[in-house]
Amino acid sequence: MRILVTGSAGFIGFHMARRLLREGHNIVGVDGITPYYDRKLKLHRHAILRQSPRFRGHEALLEDFPALSAIYGSGFDAVYHFAAQAGVRYSLENPRAYIDANLMGTFNLLELMRQSRPAHALLASTSSVYGANSQIPFRETDRADHPLTLYAASKKAAEEMSHAYSHLFNIPITVLRFFTVYGPFGRPDMALFKFAAALFDDRPLDIYNHGNMKRDFTYIDDLVEAAFLLLCRTPEAPEARGAPLARDSLSPVAPWRVVNIGNETPLGLLEFVAALEAAAGRKAKYNFLDMQQGDVPVTFADSWLLRALTGFAPATPVKEGVKCFIAWYRGYFGV
Ligand SMILES: NC(=O)c1ccc[n+]([C@@H]2O[C@H](COP(=O)([O-])OP(=O)(O)OC[C@H]3O[C@@H](n4cnc5c(N)ncnc54)[C@H](O)[C@@H]3O)[C@@H](O)[C@H]2O)c1
Repeated sequence: MRILVTGSAGFIGFHMARRLLREGHNIVGVDGITPYYDRKLKLHRHAILRQSPRFRGHEALLEDFPALSAIYGSGFDAVYHFAAQAGVRYSLENPRAYIDANLMGTFNLLELMRQSRPAHALLASTSSVYGANSQIPFRETDRADHPLTLYAASKKAAEEMSHAYSHLFNIPITVLRFFTVYGPFGRPDMALFKFAAALFDDRPLDIYNHGNMKRDFTYIDDLVEAAFLLLCRTPEAPEARGAPLARDSLSPVAPWRVVNIGNETPLGLLEFVAALEAAAGRKAKYNFLDMQQGDVPVTFADSWLLRALTGFAPATPVKEGVKCFIAWYRGYFGV
């Protein structure tokens, strides 16, 4: 298949593209290589992908419609739309970046998919859309109407725009809600990376909400496996459907559904740090801080639907996943 991966120089897009290349697909990657975090890491990821003759990487912003249109050309068999301005905290500092990338960028891509429909588009979304929901675990069929940050609001809006296009132009779309993804080649703005940097620099680790936070940490290889298996689980239009699953999130009017991809085992922040200390063979110093604005105390995925659709659900224990991350981190930074 010819597959477009947006955000191919990003953490998850890079791993996704690498997996699809291994499966024998031809991949076109597009990434704005934005300066939100170290561009060198993004360029390095793209350079690795370029080692395959079946990968073509482009540097372009999704909000640049002429550039995106030239890359999109006559279209693709499938699209993984993973490019975004990510990060909960940065959305307080630079909200406009979220509108540009997540709303305008997604809109431009939807417009192109309207002109030349892929057989299936899979869009990255986030557990952050569950916002102020207190009922756990989070299910795809729960209402998600109270986002706590502009990041969450922009991702929810992108989900909804995709539903409208799916309905109007019959584009099969699966929205993937990710839960705190970690692993090699990870994001320097996320907790594990920051903790590792502090640990190896002998600085104290900033522990928010005094450690009283739980996250459903999901290992990157599990996420990629799930997103890969979902490629052939194309949502069907209502008139084409067979017997429904017990708890499907399918739209009543469009070939569109939402699927959580999470580990279903929320872990306390301090337990996560303990796994890091064990993997690094060092003891951390802590700097306990209050909860940050826009943060939620717990994320917890219900991955029933993913399991029902694919027979797979993430299960890599954090201890193992963190060990793989640390092995990569040591090699990459020579520490
Ligand atoms: N990592 C996680 O824990 C997590 C959790 C939930 C959801 N997500 C979602 O998964 C997707 C991938 O996230 P990631 O962790 O790989 O983040 P990332 O920042 O590493 O990757 C995103 C990529 O998109 C690119 N990008 C940003 N704005 C762009 C624009 N306007 N035009 C073109 N490219 C642009 C960036 O340069 C970057 O390489 C995002 O949609 C994110 O919202 C990630």
